[in-house]
Amino acid sequence: MTPVATKDDRFTFGLWTVGWLGRDPFGDATRAPLDPVESVHRLDELGAAGVTFHDDDLIPFGSSASDRDKIVSRFRDALAETGLTVPMATTNLFTHPVFKDGAFTANDRDVRRFALRKVMRNIELAVELGAGTYVMWGGREGAESDAAKDLTAAYDRFKEAFDTLCQFVLDRGYDIRFALEPKPNEPRGDIFLPTVGHALAFIERLEHPEMVGVNPETGHEQMAGLNYTQGIAQALWAGKLFHIDLNGQHGIKYDQDLRFGTGDLKSAFFTVDLLEGAGGTGPVYTGPRHFDFKPPRTESIEGVWDSAAGCMRTYLLLKERAEAFRADPEVAGALAASRVPELATPTLGDGEGWEQLLSAAGSEGFDPETAAARGMNYERLDQLALEHLMGAR
Ligand code: GCO
Ligand code: MN
Ligand code: MN
Repeated sequence: MTPVATKDDRFTFGLWTVGWLGRDPFGDATRAPLDPVESVHRLDELGAAGVTFHDDDLIPFGSSASDRDKIVSRFRDALAETGLTVPMATTNLFTHPVFKDGAFTANDRDVRRFALRKVMRNIELAVELGAGTYVMWGGREGAESDAAKDLTAAYDRFKEAFDTLCQFVLDRGYDIRFALEPKPNEPRGDIFLPTVGHALAFIERLEHPEMVGVNPETGHEQMAGLNYTQGIAQALWAGKLFHIDLNGQHGIKYDQDLRFGTGDLKSAFFTVDLLEGAGGTGPVYTGPRHFDFKPPRTESIEGVWDSAAGCMRTYLLLKERAEAFRADPEVAGALAASRVPELATPTLGDGEGWEQLLSAAGSEGFDPETAAARGMNYERLDQLALEHLMGAR
């Protein structure tokens, strides 16, 4: 059976993903510009539920007010014709040379003020189009040399930007939440808030932490050598997984933005398993399954649509595999043999505190040697996961 994507699967794509021209630091564009209206129609045919955009993806930088209105009205028509939604929008604070030293953390104060105005203008459009999440990726917020930045001041200015934008959203009465997207490097030598963990800690210092969560991207955590599934699990646990960028990456190297499932397929299996509820024990992610990938520049436009369809098809196939894994009685037995369900039992008993734990009764005849001798049986469990992933069971 071939799983077919439908709007119920809530797959969404950035206009900049299928619209990427294939320009890289070494070579020119390999594809012609794609009309966002065409992207909306093609993504609809493939079964996507929505699209997302940077302001400049839709409205070229420097457009006049009347051009802007024309573009927005054509785009709105395409959304109405297809039923596609815009659950998320974001700001391009990295392409124009004015942002070469960053936006919210640029040393130049006038650049920082311009960046905030650019974000507020696009939040107005995002709200008009019904978006509930506003992504903040600080691609140029960073440095190539630590001498170039007053690092403490940079975090003060980063906080000031978020505090100002949260206040703007509150004062306007908008129903918008921000999602910070971490990335360790590229295009800057080092980027501030490089991982999910850094972002989560930063959010707690803001005036309105409840309005800000994270938008973790598969490849970005893997560029830092980190476990993506564990990162998003912590964000979910903290109630901070506001949005997600799914793609593929082969380990610690430049940001590959490959189609979802390429790179570390086993990690992608566990990512999907987690997003789909991991057997029903933990908190659930209810947001869109957003793909942020770049169809390689080797591809013509047909390859672009194959690549987009592949992201969704791989997600659905992994979802089937994860469901089969969770439904397999042998897996249930292996999970029990590994005492995985036992981790959900609180370490202290009902009404028990540290004093009872320290008392003679609290030790319950525990023998470290006996405990140490128990095998964890993870190898059998992991092989079962692998066999389900390979479709061998
Ligand atoms: C990247 C980033 C970007 C951001 C997007 C949102 O691949 O480096 O993921 O694609 O997600 O620009 O601002
Ligand atoms: Mn990326
Ligand atoms: Mn991204």
